Amino acid sequence: MILEVKNLLKAFGGLVAIRDLNLAVNEGEIVGLIGPNGSGKTTLFNLISGVLKPDKGEIRFNEIDITGLKPHKVCQGGIARTFQLTKPFMQMTTLQNVMIGRTYGSEPVRSMRQAEGECERILEFVGLGGKRLSLVATFGLVDRKRVEIARALATKPRLLLLDETMAGLNPSEMEDALRLVKAIGDSGITLIVVEHVMKVILDISSRLMVLNYGEIIAEGTPQEVVRDEKVVEAYLGE
Ligand SMILES: Nc1ncnc2c1ncn2[C@@H]1O[C@H](COP(=O)(O)OP(=O)(O)OP(=O)(O)O)[C@@H](O)[C@H]1O
Ligand SMILES: [Mg+2]
Repeated sequence: MILEVKNLLKAFGGLVAIRDLNLAVNEGEIVGLIGPNGSGKTTLFNLISGVLKPDKGEIRFNEIDITGLKPHKVCQGGIARTFQLTKPFMQMTTLQNVMIGRTYGSEPVRSMRQAEGECERILEFVGLGGKRLSLVATFGLVDRKRVEIARALATKPRLLLLDETMAGLNPSEMEDALRLVKAIGDSGITLIVVEHVMKVILDISSRLMVLNYGEIIAEGTPQEVVRDEKVVEAYLGE
C-alpha cells in the first residue's frame, strides 16, 4: 500500500469538509476521485500534500506517518500535486518553472546541467519541448496546465495528485491530456485523479471513489460505481 488515510477529519469552522475518511491506494493504481462541487476533493489533496493540517486522523505514505508534515517535506518524500487553479511562475520560462520542481523535489540536484537535461526530457514528454524558453505568462490554459504537470513530474514523485487538469479543455485537447495521464501511469507513478468529465474518468481509472459531503459514498470499478444508486442520486443524476 502506497497511501493509507485513516479517520481523517477537517473542518472549516462549522463546516466539516472531510468527515472521518478512510482510503487506501496501492502502488501503480490510477484512482479516480469524483464528487459534486464542494464535496471535499481539493481539501483531501490539500491534506495529503500538507497544505492543510487535519483536525484528526492519520496519513501514511509508504508505511510512514506523514500527517501534518509541511508541504515541502511531503514533496521531498515523493508526493506531488497540481493545483486546480494553475499556479505557474508567470515571469519565468517553462524550463525555469520545471527546474524549480526539480530543485525542491525528492532527489538532490548534483549538477545543474544534468538537472536541466532531465527537465528538458520532461518538457518533451508533456509536449512543451519547443516552448522551453518561452515565458509562461504568454501561455494559454492548455500549456499552463502542462507546465503544472511538468513541474510536478520534475519533483520525481511516486504518487501524483492531479486536480482537474482537464477542466476547460476542448475534446481534442482532452484526448491529448488523457494520453499524457496514461503515459504517466505507465511510467510507474501512482495517480489519484480528480476530474468532472465522466468519459475521461471512466476511461482512465482502475478504481473509482466517490466523495459526497466529505465522505466516500461508493468505491469500486468504474462500472460498479456508475451503477450505484447513491452515486446516481448524489452526483450523476439521470
Ligand atoms: N480554506 C477554506 N476555508 C473555508 N472553507 C473551505 C476552504 N477550503 C474549502 N472549503 C469548503 O470546504 C468544502 C469542500 O471544498 P473543496 O474545495 O474541497 O471541494 P471540491 O470537491 O474540490 O469542489 P470543486 O469540485 O468545486 O473543486 C466546500 O464547502 C468549501 O467551501
Ligand atoms: Mg476542487
